[in-house]
Order: sequence, then C-alpha cells, then structure tokens
Amino acid sequence: MGPKLKLLLHFLLALQLVSGASSLVEFKNIKCEAVDKEFCTFEYCHMKSVNRTYKYISLRAKLFKLPVTNAKVNGALYQRLNGYKPFLYNITVDCCLFLKNQKSNPVASFFYDSFKGFSNLNHSCPYNHDIVLDKLTAESVNHRVTNILPFPEGEYMLNFNWMVYGSSRAVFKIYFALT
Ligand SMILES: *[C@@H]1O[C@H](CO)[C@@H](O)[C@H](O)[C@H]1NC(C)=O
Ligand SMILES: *[C@@H]1O[C@H](CO)[C@@H](O)[C@H](O)[C@H]1NC(C)=O
Ligand SMILES: *[C@@H]1O[C@H](CO)[C@@H](O)[C@H](O)[C@H]1NC(C)=O
Repeated sequence: MGPKLKLLLHFLLALQLVSGASSLVEFKNIKCEAVDKEFCTFEYCHMKSVNRTYKYISLRAKLFKLPVTNAKVNGALYQRLNGYKPFLYNITVDCCLFLKNQKSNPVASFFYDSFKGFSNLNHSCPYNHDIVLDKLTAESVNHRVTNILPFPEGEYMLNFNWMVYGSSRAVFKIYFALT
C-alpha cells in the first residue's frame, strides 16, 4: 500500500472513530485565536450547552482583506496525556483547489461534508464575506458514520491552522472527549 493511501485510510479511520456515535463523542470546548488581527478577528467563538445532550459550537470570523483567493488549512489531531500530544493525523489541504474539485481529496471531502451545512464556507473561492459556523453539534458530525472502531477513550483536540497567502492567520481548536 502506498504511503498516501495508507495515510488516507488512517485518517478516515480516525474520522470514523472520532465521529463514530453520538454517545461516544462530546464537545468540550472551542478556542479561536486570530494570529494576524489585521487579517481577521473573531466576533464570537463558543460552545453552548443547552442541556447535557445538546451542545453546539458556533463562530464568526470577520475578514478584513477581501476577497480571499488562496487559503490552506492544516488539521492535526492531539491526544491529551500529560498535556496535548500529536496523535497520528496531520494533513494540509489547499482550500480553493479542494473546493473546485472535491473529489480530489476524499479525506477533506469527508470532513467538509460533515460541516458544510452549518457554514457559509459552502462554496468555491473567492471568499468575500465573514466566515460563519452556526451551531455545529457532535450529532451532526456523528450522523455521517455509524461504525465504531476501538479507539482509546480520553480527551482529544483538533487543531486547525488557517494559512492565507502563505501565512498563518487564525487558529481554532476543538476539544472533545470519547467516553
Ligand atoms: C435538550 O435540548 C434540546 C433542544 O432544546 C431538546 O430538544 C432536548 O429534548 C433536550 N434534552 C433533554 C434531555 O432535556
Ligand atoms: C503537522 O505538519 C506540519 C507540516 O508538515 C508541521 O509544521 C506541524 O508541526 C505538524 N504538526 C503536528 C502536530 O505534528
Ligand atoms: C450555502 O449556505 C447558504 C446558507 O445556508 C445557502 O443559502 C446557500 O444556498 C448554500 N450554498 C451552496 C452552494 O450550497
């Protein structure tokens, strides 16, 4: 098996594990950081707990240098042990290329499909507006996959680093637990 395919399978496995079942995944927190405040700031970025089972995350990033025609995102998974340590998966996707041809990257496609219904990132480049993620629930992510594979219980963090025109502009981290 080629290293690329292997990586792809591992990543799909991780997504599947992470999104395996609503009873297993629980959002814990979300944190957003504007690395370059001349490029963007966050109007809000929060997790709301309506009750024990209904939690969602929302954010709104205001962009000051429009239109955006070139963007990459690095997504990396961390596991909480003694502090958060890199855990298996780390991929970088060219957003505009991907949005033009979503079949080009099945891993990104899988992930994108699970949140595009909750975001105005649901079209191809250029981006001429603020970026919104509205009430994404763990269930909506879980909804995509029903298989559950053995995966260590514990706390995890997905780190997304957004690079626009070659520089890091914003980082957001989603914390979740598998129980
Ligand atoms: C949690 O809140 C949601 C949305 O208001 C509601 O549909 C659901 O029944 C609530 N669940 C519990 C256990 O209270
Ligand atoms: C992920 O990969 C990028 C680019 O190869 C690297 O800069 C970064 O440190 C890696 N992150 C983790 C958590 O391994
Ligand atoms: C993107 O989402 C908005 C708001 O939900 C919707 O009005 C629009 O039709 C969607 N666009 C695409 C290309 O799916």
